[in-house]
Amino acid sequence: MKIRLPSFTLKGIFVTIILLLAVSFMAKRSNTQVDRKETSAPRVSNRKNPENSVLQTRTNTADDVADDTKSTPPCGQICDYSIRKKSGDHILRKDFNCRDIFFRLKHPSGQTFKPPLKNPPPEMLQDFTQNGTLKLHIRYLDDSKKRNKTTFTSEDIKKLLKLDNDQIKMGSYGEDSDRFKKILYRYRDELKDKTGIVIGSQSPWLEVMLLNLGVKHVTTVDYNPVFFDHPQLSFKLMSDTADEITNDPSRRMDFAVSFSSLEHSGLGRYGDPINPYGDLEAAAQVWCMLKPGALFLLAVPGRLGSWEGTLYFNMHRDYGGARLEQIAANFEELERGKTKKHIALVLRKPV
Ligand SMILES: C[S@@+](CC[C@H](N)C(=O)[O-])C[C@H]1O[C@@H](n2cnc3c(N)ncnc32)[C@H](O)[C@@H]1O
Repeated sequence: MKIRLPSFTLKGIFVTIILLLAVSFMAKRSNTQVDRKETSAPRVSNRKNPENSVLQTRTNTADDVADDTKSTPPCGQICDYSIRKKSGDHILRKDFNCRDIFFRLKHPSGQTFKPPLKNPPPEMLQDFTQNGTLKLHIRYLDDSKKRNKTTFTSEDIKKLLKLDNDQIKMGSYGEDSDRFKKILYRYRDELKDKTGIVIGSQSPWLEVMLLNLGVKHVTTVDYNPVFFDHPQLSFKLMSDTADEITNDPSRRMDFAVSFSSLEHSGLGRYGDPINPYGDLEAAAQVWCMLKPGALFLLAVPGRLGSWEGTLYFNMHRDYGGARLEQIAANFEELERGKTKKHIALVLRKPV
């Protein structure tokens, strides 16, 4: 027996199917949009060279930073070298917002070039030279490719520990490393049994000196990973260290040490993003990673008694007083001395 459905019923079924299909299509589309929003990289400000204005001092609220889709926040007072130490004050005081500082570390606004740039971008020249306070010379090196030795076994470390204990020079900078060791030695009571970071490491001579002084653990941070097979040494990217500290501030470090590394930050030589203030931002990152009262022993190439410095693009910066004042922002300066080609600063994060 044939059942004939009235034609209006057929029409109704047809319209319902079309409606259901349309609703399911719209739902799918809106889900995809949500997914895209959640996984997208943060937008980098479209303004041409947002770092160029040295007077940008806007600091973001914590809520701004929590939203991963927001623009990378501006560098703020860290990059404002017109801010100077007030007379009678022994610290150059600047507004540091550690959430913004760590956000910029994870999402840098500068571009990465491989091979590295041979000249500073013309529109950034003023900022790269700190308004002419650093003389510009061109000296080019490409260290953005993989380096030779990236694994240090417990045997390697044992050998270096023995050399250092026997007072045999094993630092990569000869006389300079030796004099820096003497400075570290003067602070051994404060370093003993403590946990800290070494920023920039091609060969772990600093880490070994610190172990011989009795530190508990050293985390090496660099743009490029190295591997240690030793219970007291480990490697972490700077951004991973920042994440850990953001999630658990009790993991801030007791000390930081850096020899001949920060002067390269932002010049692109090691495959890092171009940033005229890379060294100043790196020092601020270290400040945020330290506990109050912690020491930061820092050595960069430079001349004592000279206000001006030199930028050997893209090799390194050579520091005069003007840049040293900026790199030490918000730290108390305990000592300033010459190792040979480097200036060593002993800094303390105020309590
Ligand atoms: C000239 S090497 C010397 C490192 C160390 N003094 C040594 O003798 O092994 C400089 C190193 O610092 C690293 N570096 C520079 N700025 C850095 C930063 N802001 N964060 C992490 N690593 C950095 C570079 O990737 C490079 O490996």
